[in-house]
Amino acid sequence: MNWLNDNVNLLGLLGAAAIIVITVFVVGKYIKQMKTDKSTGELADENWDGIGEYKNPLPVGWALSFLGTMVWALWYFLAGYPLNGYSQIGEYNEEVAAYNTKFESKWANPDAETLQGMGEGVFLVQCAPCHGITGDGINGKATDLTSWGTEEAIVHTILNGSKGMNFPLGEMPAGLLDENSAKAVAAYMTEKVSKTGTKNSDLVATGEALWATCAGCHGEDGKGMGGSAPDIASYGKPEFVASVLNHGKKGVIGTMPSFNDGRLTDIQKLAVGKYVNSLTQ
Ligand code: HEC
Ligand code: HEC
Repeated sequence: MNWLNDNVNLLGLLGAAAIIVITVFVVGKYIKQMKTDKSTGELADENWDGIGEYKNPLPVGWALSFLGTMVWALWYFLAGYPLNGYSQIGEYNEEVAAYNTKFESKWANPDAETLQGMGEGVFLVQCAPCHGITGDGINGKATDLTSWGTEEAIVHTILNGSKGMNFPLGEMPAGLLDENSAKAVAAYMTEKVSKTGTKNSDLVATGEALWATCAGCHGEDGKGMGGSAPDIASYGKPEFVASVLNHGKKGVIGTMPSFNDGRLTDIQKLAVGKYVNSLTQ
């Protein structure tokens, strides 16, 4: 039998057996004693259904150790281990936090070129495993970032809907508009709302008339009505990518974990956002 060859297991089993033997012995001894021993001392006046209480004082040693454990417990919880104790995980977290503060202050105002370079570095390590080195999504394993964020992607979103970022409004339903209307709305949105510029300026006026379809959830200004829906006024910009990273996405083709666990600092999120947006240009 395998588990008998394991020394630690064997020791554990022997210990358990010893505890059982000692318990049976001690309990047996006291039960026997309870049958024959007569207790002594003065009874208190109260008595409950014939059960009385002795006036015997607490043994001093017992009372002192009882008080002692209470004091120790208070010290332990307030000043002792849990708050001030050393732990390797705690030390690691402190070091990471200190490093991140230093990092954030060093790169507080990066110029565009620095941001782009930093973004590329982050992308190759954190995003390329799923989205591919070129960002093309490796045959549908993740979103093709070389077209995501563009006018075409807005049309795609209107036709197919969007879900999985856990906004209070939930899912954006598919098929809100037909393809031509979607193109017009995308033209209006990129020209006037996200202000990234449209390739179809002739459609802007038609799109404006249809914008009410979107404003119900995203707000007239597209800013998402205080976090109820995504801020599509930043669609196609680093801020939108950063918000996707904070939310994660349980989408149609798979799940992208949220990066809101300290893996990336805020500046790194914006930097990788800038890099992602540069993939479409
Ligand atoms: C019923 C509410 C609702 C309506 C109406 C709506 N949206 Fe959305 N939209 C959402 C929500 C919620 C999300 C986030 C979905 C998710 O979790 O990915 C979203 C996401 C988006 C995104 C981001 C997609 C992505 O890939 O990240 C775009 C762009 C967008 N909507 C554009 C529009 C446009 C344009 C319209 C008008 C035709 C519109 N929405 C109408 C609720 C709505
Ligand atoms: C574990 C795999 C994985 C990693 C790592 C990953 N992604 Fe994703 N990402 C996905 C998948 C899958 C989707 C598509 C979800 C869907 O719509 O089905 C996605 C979607 C996206 C989207 C589109 C979201 C939307 O609103 O439509 C963006 C932008 C994005 N990822 C950026 C990034 C960036 C930037 C990184 C690196 C910091 C990254 N991803 C890392 C798997 C990943």
